[in-house]
Amino acid sequence: MRLDNCHNFHDFRRLAKVRLPSPIFNYIDGAADDEVTHRRNTDSYEACDLVPNVLRGVTDVDLSVTALGQKLDMPVYCSPTAVQRLFHHEGERAVAAAAEKFGTMFGCSSLGTVALEELKRKHKNPQIYQFYFHKDRELNRSMLQRAKEVGIEVMMLTVDTITGGNRERDRRSGFSIPFKLTPRAMLQFAVKPMWAINYFTHEPFRLPQLEAHIDMANDPASIGRYASEMFDQSMNWDDVAEMVELWDGQFCLKGVMSVEDAKRAVSIGCKGVVLSNHGGRQLDGSRAPFDQLAEVVDAVGDKLDVIVDGGVQRGTHVLKALSLGAKAVGVGRYYLYPLAAGGQPAVERALGLLRDELERDMQLMGCTAINQLSRANLRFRN
Ligand SMILES: Cc1cc2nc3c(=O)[nH]c(=O)nc-3n(C[C@H](O)[C@H](O)[C@H](O)COP(=O)(O)O)c2cc1C
Repeated sequence: MRLDNCHNFHDFRRLAKVRLPSPIFNYIDGAADDEVTHRRNTDSYEACDLVPNVLRGVTDVDLSVTALGQKLDMPVYCSPTAVQRLFHHEGERAVAAAAEKFGTMFGCSSLGTVALEELKRKHKNPQIYQFYFHKDRELNRSMLQRAKEVGIEVMMLTVDTITGGNRERDRRSGFSIPFKLTPRAMLQFAVKPMWAINYFTHEPFRLPQLEAHIDMANDPASIGRYASEMFDQSMNWDDVAEMVELWDGQFCLKGVMSVEDAKRAVSIGCKGVVLSNHGGRQLDGSRAPFDQLAEVVDAVGDKLDVIVDGGVQRGTHVLKALSLGAKAVGVGRYYLYPLAAGGQPAVERALGLLRDELERDMQLMGCTAINQLSRANLRFRN
Protein backbone atom coordinates (compact mmCIF):
# COMPACT_ATOMS: atom_id res chain seq x y z
CA MET A 1 0.00 0.00 0.00
CA ARG A 2 1.30 3.48 -0.93
CA LEU A 3 0.55 7.00 0.16
CA ASP A 4 -1.17 7.73 -3.18
CA ASN A 5 -3.66 5.05 -2.26
CA CYS A 6 -4.59 6.72 1.01
CA HIS A 7 -7.88 8.52 0.50
CA ASN A 8 -9.25 8.65 4.01
CA PHE A 9 -8.60 8.08 7.73
CA HIS A 10 -8.90 4.31 7.43
CA ASP A 11 -6.39 4.08 4.58
CA PHE A 12 -3.80 6.04 6.58
CA ARG A 13 -4.50 3.89 9.62
CA ARG A 14 -3.88 0.73 7.58
CA LEU A 15 -0.61 2.11 6.20
CA ALA A 16 0.53 3.18 9.69
CA LYS A 17 -0.15 -0.34 10.90
CA VAL A 18 2.03 -1.75 8.15
CA ARG A 19 4.90 0.63 8.90
CA LEU A 20 4.99 0.76 12.71
CA PRO A 21 6.20 -1.83 15.22
CA SER A 22 2.98 -3.13 16.72
CA PRO A 23 3.47 -1.76 20.29
CA ILE A 24 3.80 1.73 18.82
CA PHE A 25 0.83 1.32 16.50
CA ASN A 26 -1.25 0.09 19.43
CA TYR A 27 -0.14 3.00 21.59
CA ILE A 28 -1.69 5.37 19.03
CA ASP A 29 -4.65 3.20 18.12
CA GLY A 30 -5.59 2.04 21.59
CA ALA A 31 -7.66 3.60 24.33
CA ALA A 32 -8.72 2.89 27.92
CA ASP A 33 -10.37 -0.27 29.29
CA ASP A 34 -12.84 -1.70 26.76
CA GLU A 35 -12.37 1.27 24.40
CA VAL A 36 -16.13 1.93 24.44
CA THR A 37 -15.70 5.69 24.70
CA HIS A 38 -13.14 5.64 21.91
CA ARG A 39 -15.63 3.98 19.56
CA ARG A 40 -18.49 6.14 20.78
CA ASN A 41 -16.54 9.32 19.94
CA THR A 42 -16.92 8.64 16.22
CA ASP A 43 -20.30 6.91 16.45
CA SER A 44 -21.80 9.97 18.14
CA TYR A 45 -21.41 11.89 14.87
CA GLU A 46 -23.61 9.33 13.14
CA ALA A 47 -26.52 10.03 15.50
CA CYS A 48 -27.47 13.07 13.48
CA ASP A 49 -27.77 14.00 9.83
CA LEU A 50 -26.98 17.10 7.87
CA VAL A 51 -29.88 18.86 6.14
CA PRO A 52 -28.56 20.76 3.12
CA ASN A 53 -29.97 23.81 1.39
CA VAL A 54 -29.64 24.17 -2.38
CA LEU A 55 -29.47 26.83 -5.09
CA ARG A 56 -27.51 29.32 -3.02
CA GLY A 57 -24.58 30.25 -5.25
CA VAL A 58 -21.66 28.52 -3.57
CA THR A 59 -18.74 29.13 -5.93
CA ASP A 60 -16.30 30.39 -3.28
CA VAL A 61 -16.14 28.86 0.15
CA ASP A 62 -14.35 30.53 3.05
CA LEU A 63 -13.35 27.93 5.65
CA SER A 64 -11.67 30.35 8.02
CA VAL A 65 -12.62 30.68 11.68
CA THR A 66 -11.30 32.54 14.70
CA ALA A 67 -10.76 30.40 17.78
CA LEU A 68 -8.86 31.24 20.97
CA GLY A 69 -7.98 34.55 19.39
CA GLN A 70 -6.29 32.91 16.39
CA LYS A 71 -7.41 33.24 12.80
CA LEU A 72 -7.29 29.79 11.22
CA ASP A 73 -7.66 29.15 7.47
CA MET A 74 -9.58 25.97 8.23
CA PRO A 75 -11.68 25.06 11.27
CA VAL A 76 -9.55 22.04 12.20
CA TYR A 77 -6.29 22.10 14.18
CA CYS A 78 -3.77 19.43 15.19
CA SER A 79 -4.37 18.66 18.84
CA PRO A 80 -1.27 18.19 21.03
CA THR A 81 -0.04 14.60 21.22
CA ALA A 82 2.95 13.02 22.96
CA VAL A 83 6.18 11.51 21.58
CA GLN A 84 5.61 12.13 17.87
CA ARG A 85 9.21 11.25 16.90
CA LEU A 86 8.48 7.73 18.02
CA PHE A 87 5.87 7.51 15.25
CA HIS A 88 8.07 9.03 12.55
CA HIS A 89 11.55 10.48 12.83
CA GLU A 90 10.30 13.94 11.73
CA GLY A 91 7.70 13.96 14.52
CA GLU A 92 6.44 17.38 15.63
CA ARG A 93 8.52 19.04 12.91
CA ALA A 94 6.38 17.37 10.25
CA VAL A 95 3.10 18.20 11.95
CA ALA A 96 3.99 21.84 12.63
CA ALA A 97 5.12 22.35 9.02
CA ALA A 98 2.05 20.66 7.56
CA ALA A 99 -0.27 22.69 9.81
CA GLU A 100 1.55 25.86 8.73
CA LYS A 101 0.97 24.99 5.08
CA PHE A 102 -2.75 24.77 5.77
CA GLY A 103 -2.82 27.93 7.87
CA THR A 104 -3.86 26.21 11.04
CA MET A 105 -2.77 25.77 14.62
CA PHE A 106 -0.88 22.82 16.11
CA GLY A 107 -0.17 21.68 19.63
CA CYS A 108 3.14 20.98 21.26
CA SER A 109 2.76 18.48 24.11
CA SER A 110 4.61 18.61 27.43
CA LEU A 111 5.64 15.12 26.33
CA GLY A 112 6.68 16.38 22.90
CA THR A 113 9.94 15.25 21.32
CA VAL A 114 10.89 18.59 19.74
CA ALA A 115 11.45 21.76 21.75
CA LEU A 116 8.67 24.35 21.66
CA GLU A 117 11.33 27.02 21.02
CA GLU A 118 12.47 25.34 17.80
CA LEU A 119 8.92 24.95 16.50
CA LYS A 120 8.10 28.55 17.34
CA ARG A 121 11.23 29.83 15.62
CA LYS A 122 10.56 27.90 12.43
CA HIS A 123 6.83 28.36 11.99
CA LYS A 124 4.46 31.28 11.75
CA ASN A 125 1.22 29.47 12.49
CA PRO A 126 -0.22 29.70 16.00
CA GLN A 127 1.13 27.21 18.48
CA ILE A 128 -0.53 25.66 21.50
CA TYR A 129 1.53 24.60 24.48
CA GLN A 130 -0.14 21.68 26.21
CA PHE A 131 0.64 21.68 29.86
CA TYR A 132 0.31 19.32 32.81
CA PHE A 133 0.04 20.68 36.32
CA HIS A 134 2.92 19.73 38.63
CA LYS A 135 3.08 19.51 42.41
CA ASP A 136 5.99 21.90 42.31
CA ARG A 137 4.26 25.25 41.88
CA GLU A 138 7.55 26.97 41.11
CA LEU A 139 8.06 24.52 38.25
CA ASN A 140 4.60 25.33 36.88
CA ARG A 141 5.40 29.01 36.98
CA SER A 142 8.75 28.56 35.27
CA MET A 143 7.21 26.43 32.49
CA LEU A 144 4.59 29.09 31.91
CA GLN A 145 7.27 31.74 31.86
CA ARG A 146 9.30 29.75 29.32
CA ALA A 147 6.28 29.44 27.01
CA LYS A 148 5.51 33.13 27.42
CA GLU A 149 9.05 34.16 26.49
CA VAL A 150 8.94 31.96 23.40
CA GLY A 151 5.73 33.68 22.25
CA ILE A 152 3.35 30.71 22.48
CA GLU A 153 -0.13 31.92 21.52
CA VAL A 154 -2.33 29.47 23.40
CA MET A 155 -1.81 27.80 26.77
CA MET A 156 -3.82 24.59 27.07
CA LEU A 157 -4.00 22.86 30.43
CA THR A 158 -5.03 19.21 30.16
CA VAL A 159 -7.36 18.43 33.06
CA ASP A 160 -8.47 14.88 32.24
CA THR A 161 -5.12 13.21 32.92
CA ILE A 162 -4.79 13.57 36.63
CA THR A 163 -3.77 9.91 36.52
CA GLY A 164 -2.92 7.66 33.58
CA GLY A 165 -5.77 5.80 31.82
CA ASN A 166 -5.81 2.01 31.85
CA ARG A 167 -4.49 1.24 28.38
CA GLU A 168 -4.52 -2.52 28.27
CA ARG A 169 -2.98 -2.79 24.81
CA ASP A 170 0.11 -1.02 26.20
CA ARG A 171 0.21 -3.36 29.18
CA ARG A 172 0.12 -6.37 26.89
CA SER A 173 2.76 -5.03 24.50
CA GLY A 174 5.01 -3.68 27.25
CA PHE A 175 4.96 -0.22 25.63
CA SER A 176 6.73 2.42 27.65
CA ILE A 177 8.14 5.91 27.15
CA PRO A 178 10.98 5.99 26.29
CA PHE A 179 10.59 2.84 24.24
CA LYS A 180 12.61 0.05 25.89
CA LEU A 181 14.75 -2.42 24.01
CA THR A 182 13.24 -5.55 25.50
CA PRO A 183 13.70 -8.86 23.61
CA ARG A 184 10.08 -8.51 22.46
CA ALA A 185 10.70 -5.00 21.17
CA MET A 186 13.83 -6.22 19.36
CA LEU A 187 11.65 -8.69 17.51
CA GLN A 188 9.36 -5.84 16.47
CA PHE A 189 12.34 -3.88 15.15
CA ALA A 190 13.39 -6.93 13.17
CA VAL A 191 10.03 -7.17 11.44
CA LYS A 192 9.81 -3.41 10.80
CA PRO A 193 13.41 -2.65 9.80
CA MET A 194 12.65 0.64 8.00
CA TRP A 195 11.13 2.12 11.15
CA ALA A 196 14.07 0.86 13.20
CA ILE A 197 16.66 2.26 10.75
CA ASN A 198 14.97 5.65 10.73
CA TYR A 199 14.58 5.72 14.48
CA PHE A 200 18.18 4.80 15.20
CA THR A 201 19.84 6.90 12.50
CA HIS A 202 18.22 10.15 13.59
CA GLU A 203 18.82 12.22 16.68
CA PRO A 204 18.24 10.36 19.94
CA PHE A 205 14.86 10.36 21.58
CA ARG A 206 14.38 13.41 23.80
CA LEU A 207 11.62 15.06 25.78
CA PRO A 208 12.93 18.64 25.60
CA GLN A 209 9.98 20.20 27.44
CA LEU A 210 10.81 18.07 30.47
CA GLU A 211 14.50 17.27 30.34
CA ALA A 212 15.38 20.19 32.53
CA HIS A 213 13.26 18.52 35.20
CA ILE A 214 13.96 14.79 34.84
CA ASP A 215 17.18 12.94 34.29
CA MET A 216 16.36 11.01 31.13
CA ALA A 217 19.94 9.98 30.47
CA ASN A 218 20.55 8.30 33.79
CA ASP A 219 17.03 7.16 34.47
CA PRO A 220 15.43 6.46 31.12
CA ALA A 221 12.50 4.53 32.56
CA SER A 222 11.42 7.46 34.62
CA ILE A 223 8.58 8.97 32.62
CA GLY A 224 5.83 6.86 34.21
CA ARG A 225 7.22 7.59 37.62
CA TYR A 226 7.59 11.22 36.64
CA ALA A 227 3.85 11.44 35.94
CA SER A 228 2.79 9.72 39.13
CA GLU A 229 5.29 11.53 41.34
CA MET A 230 5.15 14.99 39.86
CA PHE A 231 1.63 15.54 38.49
CA ASP A 232 -0.55 17.08 41.13
CA GLN A 233 -3.72 15.11 41.79
CA SER A 234 -4.83 17.72 44.29
CA MET A 235 -5.03 20.37 41.54
CA ASN A 236 -8.20 22.43 41.97
CA TRP A 237 -9.95 25.47 40.53
CA ASP A 238 -8.01 27.92 42.73
CA ASP A 239 -4.70 26.55 41.41
CA VAL A 240 -5.85 26.96 37.85
CA ALA A 241 -7.23 30.44 38.50
CA GLU A 242 -3.75 31.46 39.59
CA MET A 243 -2.26 30.09 36.37
CA VAL A 244 -4.86 31.84 34.23
CA GLU A 245 -3.97 35.11 35.89
CA LEU A 246 -0.26 34.50 35.50
CA TRP A 247 -0.60 33.59 31.82
CA ASP A 248 -2.72 36.67 31.13
CA GLY A 249 -3.63 35.56 27.60
CA GLN A 250 -5.40 32.78 25.74
CA PHE A 251 -5.78 30.09 28.38
CA CYS A 252 -7.85 27.04 27.66
CA LEU A 253 -8.83 23.88 29.55
CA LYS A 254 -8.64 20.61 27.62
CA GLY A 255 -10.79 17.78 28.88
CA VAL A 256 -13.77 19.64 30.32
CA MET A 257 -17.03 17.74 29.77
CA SER A 258 -19.71 19.08 32.13
CA VAL A 259 -21.70 22.31 31.94
CA GLU A 260 -20.81 22.97 35.57
CA ASP A 261 -17.07 22.85 34.83
CA ALA A 262 -17.46 24.96 31.70
CA LYS A 263 -19.16 27.62 33.83
CA ARG A 264 -16.32 27.49 36.35
CA ALA A 265 -13.85 27.87 33.50
CA VAL A 266 -15.66 31.09 32.57
CA SER A 267 -15.59 32.29 36.16
CA ILE A 268 -11.80 31.97 36.44
CA GLY A 269 -11.20 33.79 33.17
CA CYS A 270 -10.48 30.94 30.70
CA LYS A 271 -10.87 31.93 27.07
CA GLY A 272 -11.85 28.47 25.91
CA VAL A 273 -12.68 24.89 26.83
CA VAL A 274 -11.96 21.83 24.72
CA LEU A 275 -14.66 19.22 25.23
CA SER A 276 -12.55 16.09 25.09
CA ASN A 277 -12.08 12.68 26.65
CA HIS A 278 -8.46 12.43 25.43
CA GLY A 279 -9.52 10.31 22.46
CA GLY A 280 -11.07 7.73 24.82
CA ARG A 281 -7.70 7.13 26.45
CA GLN A 282 -8.64 8.12 30.00
CA LEU A 283 -12.11 7.47 31.49
CA ASP A 284 -13.76 4.70 29.51
CA GLY A 285 -17.54 4.91 29.71
CA SER A 286 -17.43 8.69 29.65
CA ARG A 287 -19.64 10.53 27.20
CA ALA A 288 -18.59 11.54 23.72
CA PRO A 289 -17.65 15.24 23.47
CA PHE A 290 -19.99 15.73 20.50
CA ASP A 291 -22.91 14.53 22.66
CA GLN A 292 -22.10 17.21 25.27
CA LEU A 293 -21.53 19.99 22.79
CA ALA A 294 -25.01 21.54 22.48
CA GLU A 295 -25.60 21.91 26.21
CA VAL A 296 -22.17 23.39 26.87
CA VAL A 297 -22.53 25.83 23.97
CA ASP A 298 -25.97 26.84 25.25
CA ALA A 299 -24.59 27.46 28.73
CA VAL A 300 -21.32 29.30 28.00
CA GLY A 301 -20.91 29.64 24.23
CA ASP A 302 -21.30 33.42 24.40
CA LYS A 303 -18.63 33.74 27.11
CA LEU A 304 -15.77 31.59 25.84
CA ASP A 305 -14.85 29.46 22.83
CA VAL A 306 -16.19 25.94 22.99
CA ILE A 307 -14.00 23.57 21.03
CA VAL A 308 -14.37 19.84 20.60
CA ASP A 309 -12.09 16.89 19.82
CA GLY A 310 -12.39 13.12 19.65
CA GLY A 311 -13.33 10.68 16.92
CA VAL A 312 -13.22 13.13 14.03
CA GLN A 313 -12.50 11.31 10.79
CA ARG A 314 -14.48 13.23 8.15
CA GLY A 315 -15.27 16.74 6.96
CA THR A 316 -18.92 16.05 7.71
CA HIS A 317 -18.04 15.38 11.37
CA VAL A 318 -16.43 18.80 11.50
CA LEU A 319 -19.46 20.47 9.89
CA LYS A 320 -21.78 18.80 12.41
CA ALA A 321 -19.70 20.09 15.35
CA LEU A 322 -19.56 23.59 13.89
CA SER A 323 -23.32 23.52 13.24
CA LEU A 324 -23.87 22.86 16.96
CA GLY A 325 -21.73 25.85 17.86
CA ALA A 326 -18.13 24.61 18.21
CA LYS A 327 -15.64 27.34 17.27
CA ALA A 328 -13.07 24.82 15.97
CA VAL A 329 -12.40 21.09 16.00
CA GLY A 330 -9.26 19.27 17.14
CA VAL A 331 -7.92 16.07 15.60
CA GLY A 332 -5.42 13.58 17.02
CA ARG A 333 -5.26 10.20 15.32
CA TYR A 334 -6.45 11.84 12.09
CA TYR A 335 -2.93 13.27 11.65
CA LEU A 336 -0.97 10.71 13.70
CA TYR A 337 -1.65 7.78 11.37
CA PRO A 338 -0.47 9.82 8.36
CA LEU A 339 2.59 10.95 10.32
CA ALA A 340 3.47 7.32 10.97
CA ALA A 341 2.60 6.34 7.41
CA GLY A 342 4.82 8.89 5.69
CA GLY A 343 5.93 11.95 7.68
CA GLN A 344 5.22 15.49 6.51
CA PRO A 345 3.97 14.69 2.98
CA ALA A 346 1.45 12.28 4.44
CA VAL A 347 0.22 14.75 7.08
CA GLU A 348 -0.14 17.32 4.31
CA ARG A 349 -2.04 14.85 2.20
CA ALA A 350 -4.41 14.10 5.09
CA LEU A 351 -5.01 17.77 5.88
CA GLY A 352 -5.47 18.47 2.16
CA LEU A 353 -8.06 15.72 1.85
CA LEU A 354 -9.88 17.13 4.87
CA ARG A 355 -9.81 20.66 3.50
CA ASP A 356 -11.13 19.42 0.12
CA GLU A 357 -13.84 17.49 1.90
CA LEU A 358 -14.82 20.53 3.94
CA GLU A 359 -14.99 22.73 0.86
CA ARG A 360 -17.04 20.21 -1.07
CA ASP A 361 -19.33 19.50 1.87
CA MET A 362 -19.88 23.22 2.49
CA GLN A 363 -20.90 23.64 -1.16
CA LEU A 364 -23.21 20.67 -0.92
CA MET A 365 -24.69 22.18 2.26
CA GLY A 366 -25.33 25.47 0.43
CA CYS A 367 -22.92 27.44 2.64
CA THR A 368 -20.04 29.73 1.70
CA ALA A 369 -18.87 30.67 5.20
CA ILE A 370 -18.66 28.76 8.46
CA ASN A 371 -20.98 31.19 10.25
CA GLN A 372 -23.78 30.13 7.90
CA LEU A 373 -23.85 26.72 9.56
CA SER A 374 -26.42 26.40 12.34
CA ARG A 375 -28.55 23.88 14.17
CA ALA A 376 -31.14 24.32 11.42
CA ASN A 377 -28.71 22.22 9.32
CA LEU A 378 -28.96 19.24 11.66
CA ARG A 379 -31.56 16.68 12.63
CA PHE A 380 -30.93 14.16 15.40
CA ARG A 381 -32.39 10.71 15.05
CA ASN A 382 -34.16 10.06 18.37
C1 LIG B 1 -1.01 8.83 20.75
C2 LIG B 1 -1.72 9.96 21.43
C3 LIG B 1 -1.02 10.78 22.30
C4 LIG B 1 -1.66 11.85 22.95
N1 LIG B 1 -0.93 12.67 23.77
C5 LIG B 1 -1.54 13.72 24.37
C6 LIG B 1 -0.80 14.60 25.21
O1 LIG B 1 0.41 14.47 25.39
N2 LIG B 1 -1.47 15.63 25.80
C7 LIG B 1 -2.81 15.82 25.62
O2 LIG B 1 -3.38 16.75 26.18
N3 LIG B 1 -3.53 15.02 24.80
C8 LIG B 1 -2.93 13.97 24.18
N4 LIG B 1 -3.66 13.15 23.35
C9 LIG B 1 -5.10 13.45 23.11
C10 LIG B 1 -5.28 14.35 21.87
O3 LIG B 1 -4.79 15.64 22.09
C11 LIG B 1 -6.76 14.46 21.49
O4 LIG B 1 -7.50 14.89 22.60
C12 LIG B 1 -7.35 13.14 20.99
O5 LIG B 1 -6.40 12.43 20.22
C13 LIG B 1 -8.58 13.39 20.15
O6 LIG B 1 -9.14 12.19 19.73
P1 LIG B 1 -8.86 11.54 18.28
O7 LIG B 1 -7.52 10.91 18.34
O8 LIG B 1 -9.97 10.55 18.14
O9 LIG B 1 -8.93 12.66 17.27
C14 LIG B 1 -3.04 12.08 22.72
C15 LIG B 1 -3.73 11.25 21.82
C16 LIG B 1 -3.09 10.21 21.17
C17 LIG B 1 -3.88 9.35 20.21
